[in-house]
Amino acid sequence: MKKIPVIIDCDPGHDDALMLMLAFGSGLFDVKAVTTSAGNQTQDKTLANTLKILSLIGANVPVYRGCEKPIFRNLVIDDSVHGESGLHGIEWVVPAFQPETISAVEGIARILSESEGKITIVPTGPLTNIAAFLLAFPNLKDRIERISLMGGGIFRGNMTPLAEFNIYADPEAAAIVFAAGIPVTMCGLDVTHKAVVFQKDIDLFRAIGNKSGEAAANFLEFYSRFYRENRIELEGGAALHDPCAIAWLINPDMFKTKSCYVAVETKGELTSGATVVDFYNVLKKAPNTEVAYDINREEYIKMLADAIRSLP
Ligand code: BDR
Ligand code: CA
Repeated sequence: MKKIPVIIDCDPGHDDALMLMLAFGSGLFDVKAVTTSAGNQTQDKTLANTLKILSLIGANVPVYRGCEKPIFRNLVIDDSVHGESGLHGIEWVVPAFQPETISAVEGIARILSESEGKITIVPTGPLTNIAAFLLAFPNLKDRIERISLMGGGIFRGNMTPLAEFNIYADPEAAAIVFAAGIPVTMCGLDVTHKAVVFQKDIDLFRAIGNKSGEAAANFLEFYSRFYRENRIELEGGAALHDPCAIAWLINPDMFKTKSCYVAVETKGELTSGATVVDFYNVLKKAPNTEVAYDINREEYIKMLADAIRSLP
């Protein structure tokens, strides 16, 4: 079976780390590169975490350092969820390789211009790198097959009542991406708060018995603390956001989605960083986004466990 060519743009981050495990462990992707966004932590830390997690799971692909901060705004980090290092539990791993010497924007441009076919981009952090790429290389936009991202929400936020972290951190970048005319799949909080991992799932990952399973379980035990204290609606579960953007590419039938027109609020006094999803098509605009709002949780956990099982 032909693998799906992808560039992954992420800010590990515990759920980003699980996303990378799913992407590599599934064996279904031709990962051309991983680029790093500043988000859950600073660029220095998300880059270091990316090199470490890829080394841990035995994935040696080109890694490119991304932008240091959002396009117009100061950096916002999410250390309340992901800790001081951005990926609590990875500190002991020594990276087996170094990042590339050119930037993420240049790396994406080089890969897209040299590739025979189109490539899907999977962002699971703030969209700064992707927007900077689109601004710098508009001629290469047509080389992108689709953008499958984690971010936003139809009816809810987690940084403000309406804004989700990845969009809130760099709304101008997100606005550029959604308006680019590229097909987007949006896995926002509506679906990711149904993509929940419970203690029994963490135990299942640990019981796989390999070092990736142990790392996944350790990451999720730390990550779950925030959710158990702050999202009691999830009944002890933690929203495992980022792997959804990869899972949709593996099996879209596992999700419920709706084609909608989506734009990003960059100025609102109360709503900056909100994804404005025209769920009922009141604007009568052509949809630009496949918006995911539900998932088969049991299948999602099985997909993750199968991927982890095939890793070192
Ligand atoms: C998003 O923010 C980060 O905390 C996670 O890694 C995820 O990408 C969820 O709002
Ligand atoms: Ca992330």
